Amino acid sequence: MQIVETYRTAFISYLELKTKEKEPLNLYEPISYILGLGGKRLRPLLTLMTTEIFGTDYRKALDAALAIEVFHNFSLVHDDIMDDAPLRRGSLTVHEKWDINTAILSGDAMLINAYQLFENYEGEVFRSLAKLFSKTAIEVCEGQQYDVDFETRDDVTISEYLKMIEYKTAVLVGAAMKMGAIIANVSENTQQDIYEFGKNLGIAFQLQDDYLDAFGDPETFGKQVGGDIIENKKTFLYLTSLASVTKQEAKELEHLFSIQPKDVTDKISTVKTIFLNSGAAEQTKKEIAMYTEKAFQVLEKLPISEAKKMLLKKFGESLMQREV
Ligand code: IPE
Ligand code: IPE
Ligand code: MG
Ligand code: MG
Ligand code: MG
Repeated sequence: MQIVETYRTAFISYLELKTKEKEPLNLYEPISYILGLGGKRLRPLLTLMTTEIFGTDYRKALDAALAIEVFHNFSLVHDDIMDDAPLRRGSLTVHEKWDINTAILSGDAMLINAYQLFENYEGEVFRSLAKLFSKTAIEVCEGQQYDVDFETRDDVTISEYLKMIEYKTAVLVGAAMKMGAIIANVSENTQQDIYEFGKNLGIAFQLQDDYLDAFGDPETFGKQVGGDIIENKKTFLYLTSLASVTKQEAKELEHLFSIQPKDVTDKISTVKTIFLNSGAAEQTKKEIAMYTEKAFQVLEKLPISEAKKMLLKKFGESLMQREV
């Protein structure tokens, strides 16, 4: 996928050009720090790729792609406070390297910067992008609130979980792609189809994120492995385990997910054993494949060449196989 590397290089140059440190340093340094730590750049790549797939020069989409990536990084800075996470992309999180107040304000400034980037578009394109962005951003907040609420609830259902990840993660992936379609000026039907493709891919992506949070390799994952278990996150792994184990084991699991012990080593290893033995780990992989397949089915409807469909498919498959 050489073309994806072209988009990546162009995006990173644009990001570097646009993120200049200025005074006050305690506001702007954390911003260039988090944006400079890298990450997969999944969402902006999807924006650029979608614009080209619909026949428009990807360079027209650089501002929207950057807005999406800046918003995503803002959400991570605040998410890491909320999840009490020490590590991000193999380095200290912003609130650990600086402090919580710094992370709050630098995050706020990033959210505003993201909006400002849309000012580079005009007329109907500007209106559509800004509208989609606001709708998506508020849904991400709703998803994040459900995620936190679920930590202290013991009656979360799988369908509630799926709604939560759709909001906190998948809608942004869908929006990243729809923005490319808006910039390429395709029909509303096609915009909606590519949004659905991105949304289903996003659901698979968050399921995979939850899987890696428990079973990722600490050397390469870049985040604290077991973080979701420590925080009592009601993930697909947890909910599926609960539904598959004996009453006795379910009780133990529920108990473990109601406490916050000082030493987390035992809790993490016991929970991971239950996730594996209950079949939930395998079931999660199946669910990831199912949502990826669901995304691919939407592709059939799109008015684009087979080669372009294949590019999107390859990209989706590479996400399923990822280790970070
Ligand atoms: C992390 O997103 C937050 C989720 C929605 C799972 P990514 O896994 O895309 O993070 P980076 O940007 O590559 O670090
Ligand atoms: C993050 O979900 C979703 C948003 C930041 C909106 P997670 O809390 O699972 O993301 P990671 O695992 O910290 O990257
Ligand atoms: Mg979170
Ligand atoms: Mg988190
Ligand atoms: Mg996670």
